[in-house]
Amino acid sequence: MASPGEGLPVGAEVEVDVTAFAHGGHAVARHEGQVLFVRHALPGERVRALVTSAGAGERFLRADAVSVLSASPDRVEPPCPWAVPGGCGGCDLQHVSLAGQRALKAGVVREQLSRLARLEVDVEVEAVPGDDAGLDWRTRVEFAVDDSGRAGLRRYRSHDVVPVDHCRIAAPGVDRLRVTEGSWDGAEAVDAVAPSVGEPVVVRVPEDGAGPVVRERVATSWTGPDGATVTFDRTFDVDARGFWQVHPGAAPTFLAAVMGELGVREGERVLDLYCGVGLFTAALAEAVGPSGQVVAVEADAAATDHARTNLADHPQVAVLTARVDDAFGVARPVRRGPSRRTGRPRAAARSPLVPPTADVVVLDPPRSGAGRGVCAEVARLRARVIVYVACDPAALARDTAALVEAGYRLDRLRAFDAFPMTHHVECVATFRPAEGGR
Ligand SMILES: C[S@@+](CC[C@H](N)C(=O)[O-])C[C@H]1O[C@@H](n2cnc3c(N)ncnc32)[C@H](O)[C@@H]1O
Repeated sequence: MASPGEGLPVGAEVEVDVTAFAHGGHAVARHEGQVLFVRHALPGERVRALVTSAGAGERFLRADAVSVLSASPDRVEPPCPWAVPGGCGGCDLQHVSLAGQRALKAGVVREQLSRLARLEVDVEVEAVPGDDAGLDWRTRVEFAVDDSGRAGLRRYRSHDVVPVDHCRIAAPGVDRLRVTEGSWDGAEAVDAVAPSVGEPVVVRVPEDGAGPVVRERVATSWTGPDGATVTFDRTFDVDARGFWQVHPGAAPTFLAAVMGELGVREGERVLDLYCGVGLFTAALAEAVGPSGQVVAVEADAAATDHARTNLADHPQVAVLTARVDDAFGVARPVRRGPSRRTGRPRAAARSPLVPPTADVVVLDPPRSGAGRGVCAEVARLRARVIVYVACDPAALARDTAALVEAGYRLDRLRAFDAFPMTHHVECVATFRPAEGGR
């Protein structure tokens, strides 16, 4: 035990009251001026916490709840025996009921918007249709490989590999590959992918040459601008290790949510930013028809190669291989290198493929978000509607502030539980010009 006034050392155990749940999936407790991020705990609980590591300057500590002295009504028995202190680092919330998980995630989205965008928004995290247990959904799993060639999953914040033989959130197709029974000498990792079309595939990492390509089918529907139901049914080629939503219900759910908000009409001009292999692009192209235009931007050349093939039947689509900030002529964020020393971040010239105005914009950036510079340029397009698909609530909140500052209002926010048992949550945010603001 630590003496009063001293910081708690790694290995110490302490009884704490858990008071909050923070972005990143941490339950939060305090002990004598130190903040503890406690895994396997829930707000409202009193737990015995084992300190596992100290953060920078020991201002905060990481800990595991090793015994629960007073349990939250949301606490359940984790379905996976590895989801315990010292076990697998993959899931953060197996000890929480699904309803409880969704309430925690809603709180995080609400708090980020309040803190970073000064907006008070009611948030409900919706289940992905058909997912009533939160298990057996993950169609892409990266297994780690240890020095003896054995595949498993990583311990939390560790390079150790734990021999999880049946991951409870993995899709049945991933399980059938029995990756953990193989010997993977010399591999850094092994990816198991269960696409919606065809057989599951295993990819040894690093790959020898071009990796396998898989096919994903998306069938869904939404209400179009004239009130009629629009149906969509299409397949997409994607690199087995390239970006595709990992929950089998996510792509159709997000597509319907995005298209339902946009109300795209024939002949409109649309930008699809961070387009991947063209999931949203395809539906946008169908909606604008041959008299419209869709410009799709994506940084990964392998993804844009697939997008061009996937969308070959739509001549109204132009696919641009570029970073979105480069395409808009926005200076890249300065991190390291010569620009940091001189303090002069350099911007690429704006691409001639990016039009000066657009009717509709879709953004689906990676976790880091689009950034303030890109949001300012997007606002200058004077679109009648912008839909932002976000996998990080803090980045979304920061970018919401930028769009609001540039004359838009957050018209609607939906949030989806596309990653049950983990702290991750996906948001679909709709922005329209603020009244009198533009
Ligand atoms: C969340 S995924 C969305 C993909 C696509 N909209 C979909 O639903 O399948 C984000 C995509 O952004 C791409 N990306 C990451 N950073 C980028 C950047 N700075 N500029 C353009 N694309 C980027 C990634 O390669 C990835 O395909």
